[in-house]
Amino acid sequence: MKTVDFVAMKDGTREEYLFLKPLEDEHIKGTAARVIRELRLQEEETLPGYKISRLAHGLQAATRAYREGADIDWVVAALLHDIGDGLAPQNHDRFAAEILRPYMREEVVWTVEHHAAFQMYYYAHHYGWNQHEREKYRDSIYYQSCVDFCERWDQSSFDPDYKTESLDYFIPMVMEVFSRRAHDPAVQQKGVVRGLPMLATAAE
Ligand SMILES: [Fe+2]
Ligand SMILES: [Fe+2]
Repeated sequence: MKTVDFVAMKDGTREEYLFLKPLEDEHIKGTAARVIRELRLQEEETLPGYKISRLAHGLQAATRAYREGADIDWVVAALLHDIGDGLAPQNHDRFAAEILRPYMREEVVWTVEHHAAFQMYYYAHHYGWNQHEREKYRDSIYYQSCVDFCERWDQSSFDPDYKTESLDYFIPMVMEVFSRRAHDPAVQQKGVVRGLPMLATAAE
């Protein structure tokens, strides 16, 4: 069988669906490659006006996370947190979170899902909007992680002089995350708060 015969799903046979299943499994394995392809598009198809592209912003956020000793979930999340900017600019945070949700810790996915509201702290007042939108989420166990993610890795990563690692550097980490078993409770770690790594403080 090269393709199924049916033209409406309700007419498909068991044999046809058994034929489709391994093809779909193979397609899922290609997710990481498609995510990376979309990231590369953010070099050119980017939000104008900033000093750096959206790809460079993601690389810078990921590099900062990596250099601060963050775990792989944080690093890959920092890299991908704005991947929705092209296709879902009005809800890019939730778009990115849904891509990550099957493969990552709940704390990290929640942070990506809400980062746009938390980022408003840095600029919304200039438009006459509510700078304190993040207060809506004060009761979440992940509130402080999202505050720290935005402060340390997101709002700070628009600097053209910061020396980032290349996309190639992070590709094995992206591959590793997307090769996990989807929706595995051991990966999702629901309700677990780890926070961001402690920052080294200068000796007095
Ligand atoms: Fe964002
Ligand atoms: Fe961002």
